[in-house]
Amino acid sequence: MDLKGRHLIAPSDFSVAEMEWLFDKAEQIIKNPKDYTEVCKGQLLATLFYEASTRTRLSFEAAMLRLGGQVIGFSEPTSSSASKGESIADTIRTVACYADIAVMRHPKEGAAMVAARQSEIPVINAGDGGHHHPTQTLTDLLTIKLEKGEFKGITVGVCGDLKFGRTVHSLISALSRYSGVKFIAISPSELRLPEFAWEEIARSDATLEETTDMREALPKLDVLYMTRVQRERFFNEEDYIRLKDRYILNAAKLKDAKKDLMILHPLPRVNEISTDVDTDPRAFYFRQAKCGMYVRMALLMSLLGRGIAHGNQ
Ligand code: NCD
Repeated sequence: MDLKGRHLIAPSDFSVAEMEWLFDKAEQIIKNPKDYTEVCKGQLLATLFYEASTRTRLSFEAAMLRLGGQVIGFSEPTSSSASKGESIADTIRTVACYADIAVMRHPKEGAAMVAARQSEIPVINAGDGGHHHPTQTLTDLLTIKLEKGEFKGITVGVCGDLKFGRTVHSLISALSRYSGVKFIAISPSELRLPEFAWEEIARSDATLEETTDMREALPKLDVLYMTRVQRERFFNEEDYIRLKDRYILNAAKLKDAKKDLMILHPLPRVNEISTDVDTDPRAFYFRQAKCGMYVRMALLMSLLGRGIAHGNQ
């Protein structure tokens, strides 16, 4: 499989076979991390973060450093020339003069796509507004795969802010390409999935059921994907306050859930998962964060066209 030089802007940029290949690579890295410590020696990653991040930026940085590569970048727009009015196109053209690959997070939908069109180096979308977040999806899928072995026929509940939650949009886009996946969308009516997600499901073999009642959905689920209400995407604070605590998962509610349920959350959490769930063996969200680093290692080395052999040269 040759992913060298490719961009990753939305999950549909990769075929199922290409995603599977990345999961296999990530599993190899988990088993033999020492084999990969020099794979990206001499390679430079630029992290262009115009929006807050903990896991995504740090896991990309950790991934590149663990592959023997190096990292430059900024973690807030105020420290870049965006604050002087520079366009994304000009920024990426400049960054491509210095780095071999770039990761971008931006509050505007489509920002990473604009960058990719102008870029001579691979661009990875680390979140564009309320649109997509494909590397979070690679993380989510690897976490499920390591536990369940496959995605075929699973029932996945997505809960919370399905309107603005980009991780849910990307998860649905990727998972609906596997056979017989069933989604249950749990949200207040104001935060329903956007049209483009419905259309993607309609084109696939997946099914989607909607409810506003988490307790009713819970016993049916193999995976429960919780999300934070995306405060920064709301036009008005009152709506956010009214909706933010609509769904709170706690240990008591989990009594009705399957014994092998996986509870996922891209993090950060606010109130939507009570801390009394953290010690439940079904809570996977911190293990999920770890998977993010491994799958990003697999992604970086693949887009850079590097394999174990490079490290031995
Ligand atoms: C998510 C994001 O940025 O979309 N965080 C992440 O990357 N792990 C989810 C969120 O911020 O709610």
